[in-house]
Amino acid sequence: MAVTAVVGGHWGDEGKGKVVDVLAAEHDLVIRYNGGANAGHTIVDERGTFRLHLVPSGVLHPNVTCLIGPGVVVNPDVLIEELRTLEAQGVSTHNVLISTRAQLLFPHHVTLDVLEEQSRGKGQHGTTKQGIWPAYADKVSRTGVRVGDLLHEAHLVEQVRYQASRMSRLMTGAYGHEALDVEAVVAHCRRWREVLGARVVDSHPLVQRALRAGRRILLEGHLGVMRDLDWGIYPYVTSSTCLPGGAAAGAGVPAGKITRVVGVVKAYTTAVGAGPMPTELDDDMGARLRDLGQEFGTTTGRPRRCGWFDGVAARYAAEVAGFTELAIMKLDVLSGLDTVKICTAYRYRGDILEGMPDTPVLADVEPVYETLPGWRLPERVSSLESLPSAARQFVDRIAALTETPVTMVGVGRDREALARGAASGAGVWR
Ligand code: GDP
Ligand code: IMO
Ligand code: MG
Repeated sequence: MAVTAVVGGHWGDEGKGKVVDVLAAEHDLVIRYNGGANAGHTIVDERGTFRLHLVPSGVLHPNVTCLIGPGVVVNPDVLIEELRTLEAQGVSTHNVLISTRAQLLFPHHVTLDVLEEQSRGKGQHGTTKQGIWPAYADKVSRTGVRVGDLLHEAHLVEQVRYQASRMSRLMTGAYGHEALDVEAVVAHCRRWREVLGARVVDSHPLVQRALRAGRRILLEGHLGVMRDLDWGIYPYVTSSTCLPGGAAAGAGVPAGKITRVVGVVKAYTTAVGAGPMPTELDDDMGARLRDLGQEFGTTTGRPRRCGWFDGVAARYAAEVAGFTELAIMKLDVLSGLDTVKICTAYRYRGDILEGMPDTPVLADVEPVYETLPGWRLPERVSSLESLPSAARQFVDRIAALTETPVTMVGVGRDREALARGAASGAGVWR
């Protein structure tokens, strides 16, 4: 059975949550494979609006098992609150499990993220201040604590004491912060065990059983290729791998089984946080996109930077991640414009660049635009075939630029507002 991965094709917030929610109805197991509570995925259905950070976006489907995979850094306080909010909204969370191999993200990781941002002054990266890099740094330096360690008291105490003491030395020495109460951190872990212990599972046999039984598995990514640790706009990136290769390791599925990769982009481009974004618009059009698209961060509430569709970044993402199909979300936000633009190339010091340049060059490129006719979307569109012809032309152009067939187009916030159908665009480079 083919395994599907959903991967962001731009700077994050492309609408992955909605795509995963829709595809979850056609799957049995959804595994979130990277990141932590820096992610913010908003899903709207007939019951209301749901904002997810750590809980996989398949949770609204009670028959779908939702696993927080080994590649995730889990802040249990955030997770507990998120589960509580979902239950209060009438969503059963009995189907949410956490892999023993996932890493714990402690409150002091959050503090360290904040301290480092403060110490950067004007050069802040604009992280989500969710403690992401400190948690992954501890994982890599092998001083992290795994979720499964919660189930082994003596080992837990030993690991947490070492980790918290080391962090305390770093925070006092490098940042002049007050020392950590190490025993309070140990006690905090015991509370996490009480609340979350029943959800903690060894995910390896679970995934193997699913694969053997031909269950349909969906891997949910956070963020996008342009913020990927290796392939994004370093250093303005996150600390995990957003690509399907990262999905294999982060979910515990053999890489060769991932044969369907759904890239998700918006019909325009947005970013939160620092770092180059070539198509950013500091004018009325940028403000219009922000207003109509309600472009404010789900996790931090920050206004998102907005601009025209970046076809160079989308093509690069399709190449690096190997998209087998593309979802273009929020086409409705562009509805009613006379003309729309797509960036098809970057110019640098008079030359057209090939590929994605290094970060300092990207900060100085000039986007080369193609102008296309605008469209007005009808009230309801449920198939790609029924899109107005100018909208179809826009979608086909993106398919050609990315050499990826488009199979889904978002036409509104609700779950139902999604046009699907036979792939649009032959993916021919023009
Ligand atoms: P994610 O992080 O990639 O899951 O994306 P976010 O949820 O952070 O941001 C996408 C926002 O756009 C959310 O508020 C969604 O509810 C909303 N959204 C998703 N698809 C569409 C669409 O096709 N049209 C409109 N208008 N909104 C959409
Ligand atoms: P979803 O999954 C958009 C950005 C931050 C910052 C950089 C590093 O909702 O698409 P971090 O907190 O990870 O150390 O921040 O990445 N960022 C996101 N931007 N959507 C997200 O998640 C993001 N998660 C992190 O703004 O620039
Ligand atoms: Mg988001």
